[in-house]
Amino acid sequence: MCGIVGYIGNQKAAPILIDGLSKLEYRGYDSAGVAIYDEGSVKVRKYKGRISILEENLKKETIKGNIGIGHTRWATHGEPSDRNSHPHTNYSGNIALIHNGIIENYMKLKEWLISVKGDHFKSETDSEVIAHLIDYFYEGDLLDAVYKAIEKMEGAYAIGVICKDEPDKIVAVRKDSPLIVGLGENENFIASDIPALLKYTKDIYLIENEEVVLLTKDEVKIFNEFREVVKRDVFKVTWNAEAAEKEGYPHFMMKEINEQPKGVYDTLHRRLDKKDNIVLDGIKITKEDLEQINKVYIVACGTAYHAGLVGKYAIEKFAKIPVEVDVASEFRYRDPFVDENTLFIAVSQSGETLDTLAALREAKRKGARILSIVNVVGSSVARESDDVFYTWAGPEIAVASTKAYTTQLVSMYLIALHMAVTKGSIANDQYKKYIKALKEMPDQIQKIVENEESIQKIADEQFNNENVFYIGRGVDVAVAYEGSLKLKEISYIHSEAIGAGELKHGTIALIEEGRLVVALATQDGLYDKMLSNIQEVRARGAYVIGVAKEENKEIEKVADKVIYIPDTLDEFTPILSVVPLQVLAYYIAVARGCDVDKPKNLAKSVTVE
Ligand code: M6R
Repeated sequence: MCGIVGYIGNQKAAPILIDGLSKLEYRGYDSAGVAIYDEGSVKVRKYKGRISILEENLKKETIKGNIGIGHTRWATHGEPSDRNSHPHTNYSGNIALIHNGIIENYMKLKEWLISVKGDHFKSETDSEVIAHLIDYFYEGDLLDAVYKAIEKMEGAYAIGVICKDEPDKIVAVRKDSPLIVGLGENENFIASDIPALLKYTKDIYLIENEEVVLLTKDEVKIFNEFREVVKRDVFKVTWNAEAAEKEGYPHFMMKEINEQPKGVYDTLHRRLDKKDNIVLDGIKITKEDLEQINKVYIVACGTAYHAGLVGKYAIEKFAKIPVEVDVASEFRYRDPFVDENTLFIAVSQSGETLDTLAALREAKRKGARILSIVNVVGSSVARESDDVFYTWAGPEIAVASTKAYTTQLVSMYLIALHMAVTKGSIANDQYKKYIKALKEMPDQIQKIVENEESIQKIADEQFNNENVFYIGRGVDVAVAYEGSLKLKEISYIHSEAIGAGELKHGTIALIEEGRLVVALATQDGLYDKMLSNIQEVRARGAYVIGVAKEENKEIEKVADKVIYIPDTLDEFTPILSVVPLQVLAYYIAVARGCDVDKPKNLAKSVTVE
């Protein structure tokens, strides 16, 4: 995780670094720091806590330098503290370094550096070792020293380095952690992600794995692992800086919940032609390819995994191909049965989640065809896939994923329908019915979002509950998982999701007076059974919030409160039913005074194992 930025140009570096870091705070917020070359030395300022603390401290002095690097940390090695914050330096303080990732062999390197140089280390981090390693190899050429250092390093890293003796350059490297370069006029930038640079430039170089970049204020050179210069096309960012701002909403999460009608509309309509045929430019799977595929794996983490659960339901139902869904961190270590007849679908908002990326590589190694559903254009997952389906959610900043999830669902449905049409496993009138229902989704989500006040009232009554259960049947179970995750990650309330039919096999023992149960009952074929399950928990004292389609009013007789979603086909209810659960989790977290956008212990982009 962690966010890195770097600036070299004619302007004062400090405010640009702070501004960039504030856009990357979603990647980690345990501590923040900068190193700036100023008046003949590298000045390092770093503090435990949010970027605002660093900013306040920087206001107390004048650092005029116009080359610098900055970092916001999600702690892995060593507790959050001033000492463990980045940038790290070599012993003399001449070389400063920022790092996102993990150096797996840092202990060995540290011992070796102590034995050959008698180095003293100031922190408990793996990252500090890199600064010492570069120093060990430094003989007046920073680029050369960095190349020699990375030869010794194992693990994942995006690093930025400055050096007192070469104050006109930044050297940066990418290996398995994201890194981009921003191109300006007489100034250049590095960053972990595009929002950090949008205020300054929309011209970006997407840096590939194992590339090394040399930046001066007038020039950017990209080298491959063999030290050869490589050419790179400029990637033009199409969205503007406002997309990464709160625009009057109290939190990014609420803004992003409200952006779902647009995200869903864009993701859908960009794939439909005038006759409502699905056109997937990024996917080249033919009828012949599909006939060879006998198994689909959908692999992802967290919310994206929950989207995968709905994907299984859609692909099996529409395209009649068996699907397994797995969390990426488990998939990669269990020697899964994958071969050249397997379609592997990776789902990831960021496209940088290390577990997902590693699972993808494992599947590729075994011969699977790789299709990814990704939000961040040009991200690692996208680049390493055979076929890519981009969600059109726009930048998602809040740690809790909302619009990425609903656009991932639309993507799953479109891929499943596309497969079904290509295979000929769906009748035309059925297809038309499905597309019509999907096209109604943006307006229907809008209707739910407009009803947020009534959901807020429920949240205000229930925010003190310390244990919450989410139950459902059929595809509602997948949504129950997502609703539960949303609540626990932002409100710190313990919560569990379970198939309603499974309750009586153990979990119902936890139901007692006042326990909050959120019951999803959106599936017509399973509606009566859900009503029975609701009565079972009510009989044991639970307070039940039901989620049902407007046409099904019977639930009012058994639930304490009901949140309605607009009527739609059973197949597509997840796109709608998740929205009130997001709003509920949001208002419960607000009522508990939680930091909604930056929940404790979490980061948006999980680039460590
Ligand atoms: O960027 P990714 O979609 O690969 O991220 C996967 C998970 O880390 C992510 O969905 C996480 O579970 C969300 N913060 C949950 O809201």
